[in-house]
Amino acid sequence: MKVAVIGAGKIGRAVAEGLAKAGYEVTATKRRIEEIKGLERLGVTVTRDNREASSKAEIIIISVKPKDVSSVLREIRGEVKGKIVISVAAAVTLSQMKKVCPEALFVRVMPNITVLVQESLMAYCVEGSVTPELKRTVEKVLEALGKPVEVEESQMDAITALSGCAPAYLSLILEALTYAGLEVGLSKEFSLLSAAQAMVGTGKLILEGGKSPHEIRDMVTTPGGVTVEGLLELERAPIRYVMMRAVKKAALKSRKISEALFE
Ligand SMILES: NC(=O)c1ccc[n+]([C@@H]2O[C@H](COP(=O)([O-])OP(=O)(O)OC[C@H]3O[C@@H](n4cnc5c(N)ncnc54)[C@H](OP(=O)(O)O)[C@@H]3O)[C@@H](O)[C@H]2O)c1
Repeated sequence: MKVAVIGAGKIGRAVAEGLAKAGYEVTATKRRIEEIKGLERLGVTVTRDNREASSKAEIIIISVKPKDVSSVLREIRGEVKGKIVISVAAAVTLSQMKKVCPEALFVRVMPNITVLVQESLMAYCVEGSVTPELKRTVEKVLEALGKPVEVEESQMDAITALSGCAPAYLSLILEALTYAGLEVGLSKEFSLLSAAQAMVGTGKLILEGGKSPHEIRDMVTTPGGVTVEGLLELERAPIRYVMMRAVKKAALKSRKISEALFE
């Protein structure tokens, strides 16, 4: 199947790579084309020509910044009639895109930066005219990039604020743990390795081991032990409150951006 990735920046490049590795015939576009020449090694065709890329493709993936989605859609409008157009842009709604290209079939996806290692949750929603068969095709594309989960579009701002931004929030914790390792005499490399490995392992315990965060905390906290000493100190900071506020603020920001777009 032929796929065009319009806007091969951080996310788009990873999408193009993941799909090329999964056997899709990929064309990737970008204005500064020299930055993605490396993709040719994977058999990806690179070009500045969004129209030509879209006309040859069966599925078009839009990965430009939200503010650029409208102009890109206007540019490729004539090439996407009856085709699936998947947008990974934050805040841009299905109906906003449909208004620009009424004859395309739109899918909206919220990935995160872990799409670089094919580990991203790919929360997606589709417009009404996407048939179950086409939805299966979309899921197959998304499976090559991470874990597809269908959601209601009304939840997309919240999902952007949680899933889309989570790598940034978790990186802040990893950075803090790395400094903590330095403070207790470990090397920077070892501190980061052990913190990141613990994050991966904890995620797997939840996703594959069926444990809840509460159970995991209970399992590692023994009476009079080391963990409870650390947890006691953590109780001084309102971590849950801060996380909840951060996600709420980010969701509101996503809604605001959405309202300001396509005015
Ligand atoms: N980064 C994340 O963590 C994340 C997470 C979830 C969703 N998203 C969404 O993913 C989208 C891409 O984000 P990103 O972080 O990958 O941004 P990015 O690195 O800036 O990528 C966007 C790319 O689009 C290219 N571009 C701009 N106008 C173009 C045009 N007319 N034709 C072809 N290419 C064009 C730009 O390259 P040139 O200037 O060289 O053309 C740029 O490399 C955004 O809509 C964002 O909301 C991002």
